[in-house]
Amino acid sequence: MLELKGISKTFGGLRAVDDVSLSITRGAITGLIGPNGAGKTTLFNTIAGAYAPTRGTIHFEGQPIEGKAPYQIYRMGIARTFQIPRPFGALSVLENVMLAPLGQLGEQFWNNLFRPGRIRTQERTNRDKAVEVLDFLNLTHLADEPARSLSGGQLKLLELGRALMSDPRLILLDEPGAGVNPTLLGQITERIVELNRRGISFLIIEHNMDMVMNLCRPIVVMAAGRLLMQGEPQAVRSDPRVLDAYLGGVT
Ligand SMILES: Nc1ncnc2c1ncn2[C@@H]1O[C@H](COP(=O)(O)OP(=O)(O)OP(=O)(O)O)[C@@H](O)[C@H]1O
Ligand SMILES: [Mg+2]
Repeated sequence: MLELKGISKTFGGLRAVDDVSLSITRGAITGLIGPNGAGKTTLFNTIAGAYAPTRGTIHFEGQPIEGKAPYQIYRMGIARTFQIPRPFGALSVLENVMLAPLGQLGEQFWNNLFRPGRIRTQERTNRDKAVEVLDFLNLTHLADEPARSLSGGQLKLLELGRALMSDPRLILLDEPGAGVNPTLLGQITERIVELNRRGISFLIIEHNMDMVMNLCRPIVVMAAGRLLMQGEPQAVRSDPRVLDAYLGGVT
């Protein structure tokens, strides 16, 4: 589904991602782990179009996407969430979800003047969909609250909700479990499994090893910008290189 070949991303002299080749299988929930500074978020940013890779190619469903703009990649079917959630704090939870979708005709001046009916229909569809998404994520009771009043875990769910509005086929989640209480963590995990059952593939960065080991298959390990190994949870858990990367401070 997603094919990375020889991806590098440097910042000045620092090789944040160093010659990473990786295949993501359709239908899988792939985990991406590694110590702080391993290059995981940088790899995400390169896939999602926030950075053009310094070197290498990325294909999504057979199409080259490296160097494309984030909105183009989003339209092609890849949605992402941020390690630090970025809601519009003053807007309601529902409004935050409604803001996500692509091709909002209402943003275009000419459409406002000449196609008001079409815009109204689109806004209604958009709202209906956002309501459904909030319901799916058990956030309906918070729909009218300002996003800034949400807890860390609720913000993670909101981020997931915004990602869902584009009907993505692949979702990149950057630490969905960080700062989330155990109850909400179980809920997030369960929703990811349900979305996966409905056909969405995932690539998930996560430091919570319980969550990763339960949820992800296969697991990809990065350290110091490089791909260290890829395998089943059992193999990753018992691989001396992985232990070494975490304990030995490769970074
Ligand atoms: N925009 C940037 N400019 C300069 N250096 C950066 C930038 N983004 C990341 N880096 C550096 O690249 C390296 C990889 O960072 P990255 O954020 O990708 O790691 P990570 O694996 O996501 O870590 P964490 O688990 O702490 O989130 C780090 O040394 C970081 O300081
Ligand atoms: Mg990161």
